[in-house]
Amino acid sequence: MADRRYLVTAALPYSNGRLHVGHIAGAYLPADTYARYLRATGTDVRFVCGSDDNGVAALKSAREQDRSVEELTAHYSRAQQADFAGLNIDFDIYGGTHQPDYVKTHEKFSQDLFLNIYQKGLFTKRTTQQLYDVQADQFLPDRFVRGTCPDCGSGNAFGDQCEDCGRSVDQQTLINPVSVMTGSTPQLRETIHWYLRLDQLQSRLVWWLTQKKDAGACSAAWRPIVLNQSLGRIEAEGLPERAMTRDLTWGVPVPLDDPDARGKSLYVWFDAPIGYVSFTAALCEQMGEGVDGYADWWKDPDCKVVHFIGEDNIVFHAITWPAMLLATHDSNSVQGERGEYQLPHNVVANSFMNIKFPGKDEEKISKSRGTAVWIGDYLETFDPDPLRYYLTAVAPENARTAFDFDDFIARNNGELVNAFGNFFNRTMSFAHKYFDGKVSAPGNREGLDTAHLQRCANAVSRTAEELEQCRFKAALSEVMALARAGNGYFDTTKPFMSRKTDMEACARAVNICLQTARTLTTIVAPFLPDTAEKCAKMLNLDENWRTWASATDELPQGRPLREPEILIKKLDARELFGD
Ligand code: MF3
Ligand code: ZN
Repeated sequence: MADRRYLVTAALPYSNGRLHVGHIAGAYLPADTYARYLRATGTDVRFVCGSDDNGVAALKSAREQDRSVEELTAHYSRAQQADFAGLNIDFDIYGGTHQPDYVKTHEKFSQDLFLNIYQKGLFTKRTTQQLYDVQADQFLPDRFVRGTCPDCGSGNAFGDQCEDCGRSVDQQTLINPVSVMTGSTPQLRETIHWYLRLDQLQSRLVWWLTQKKDAGACSAAWRPIVLNQSLGRIEAEGLPERAMTRDLTWGVPVPLDDPDARGKSLYVWFDAPIGYVSFTAALCEQMGEGVDGYADWWKDPDCKVVHFIGEDNIVFHAITWPAMLLATHDSNSVQGERGEYQLPHNVVANSFMNIKFPGKDEEKISKSRGTAVWIGDYLETFDPDPLRYYLTAVAPENARTAFDFDDFIARNNGELVNAFGNFFNRTMSFAHKYFDGKVSAPGNREGLDTAHLQRCANAVSRTAEELEQCRFKAALSEVMALARAGNGYFDTTKPFMSRKTDMEACARAVNICLQTARTLTTIVAPFLPDTAEKCAKMLNLDENWRTWASATDELPQGRPLREPEILIKKLDARELFGD
């Protein structure tokens, strides 16, 4: 285990708005939990994220808010970073594709990758028709035009993707297109773009995706939703070429010495995933390893790259991005030889999260309708761990789930406080009241005691197994099951009775409870980092508690404990509404 290397990424958020619970549940929390677990196992990990600043999304918001796009993206990039920090989502680097400290490196990596593919002959230069807004005197790439989806008929489709069915859209196929700039009906005009020959890459992609499908129960097995939207889609429809350039000046300039490339940028979905690489390079530089250090993470088959994303990002991470990487390979290799870009080991996608306000029906999270829980608002009143707990417990791993306010309160008070917090509380207070604040004597352990210790060891390995496979919800329930088993053991052995009759038996029971608390401290840490810190402090553990292997280390008899503190607060529903 100790010599594994993983590069973990979370989708780069568009820096044009605030983050809500759906974003966190979709990609960032599972990614952080995974990275924390990997670090605990001694794996060499880098956890990379940053803002997705280029493209139409930011331009459009800047225009609506009458701000410069530089100022807007800098503002939201920083605000999102503060939200992540407040939730203890702990990236090793937070870059930004157009932020002053990163933009140079990012442009270089993006342009180099574009040229690499260009030299392989995998771009076609084409004259094409694009929607043009005559009043605004400009082309309308991507989100600058909206209309009806040719696939599902929803009116929520844009020139790049349909908001409702998630499919990528070719703007020429949009029904009743309308310019977002002026509200006018656009005209078709001729322009020139560079298309990635996805058709030429199709057979290698299919071969590679099929391996992921056949991985069965092993750690590289991909979730069905990811395979359906990638392999399933290709098998059903094939892969057409896709334009990787745009008529925009906000972005990475197209690096071709060709008058037709003037005033054009790379498509934002071309440059954004390269952010994972360019931010890795920036991190290596910050760590004194030099920018070329990125190759140890991206071009070494021993390092596994794992992407965490939301459902709407699947096509780009499981088709387009791997295709871009494959396109750079010199040979016809399918995974990448040493020295070539590795394809993702796993792409872990969650579905969306709905929201349910008390007394109302479940609905979609929507910024415009004000149906969202913003992270900044949440953090003004609450600690991070109740939210981390809830969003993992109801994670949309295989289907949509809902953030339900009543359920959030009920689970915090009923599960976290009652099962987990209460177990620590009663164990610690017994140790303080009757054993001088020290670890009591293990005595002569009986069957029940050794069975419970075995139960602890099993919980450690089962939690690890689930985490290895990115089943976070199942992993968390293993942890909670151990907390409940701890309470069960306490209830059965009744130290509150034996303290009057048999002090040796009481000491033995409290000892086992303390060992259980010790185990819980380590295995809850990837999920609830602040809570784990408090547990470790109460139990007076040395730094080694952070390693997964230490989870079953026994607390020695006589070790002094610290004063118990409240681990998790009960929440009152009224606090949520600022009553
Ligand atoms: N900005 C995109 C979104 O929020 C995600 C970009 S992921 C990347 O949906 F790989 F392209 F960076
Ligand atoms: Zn649609």
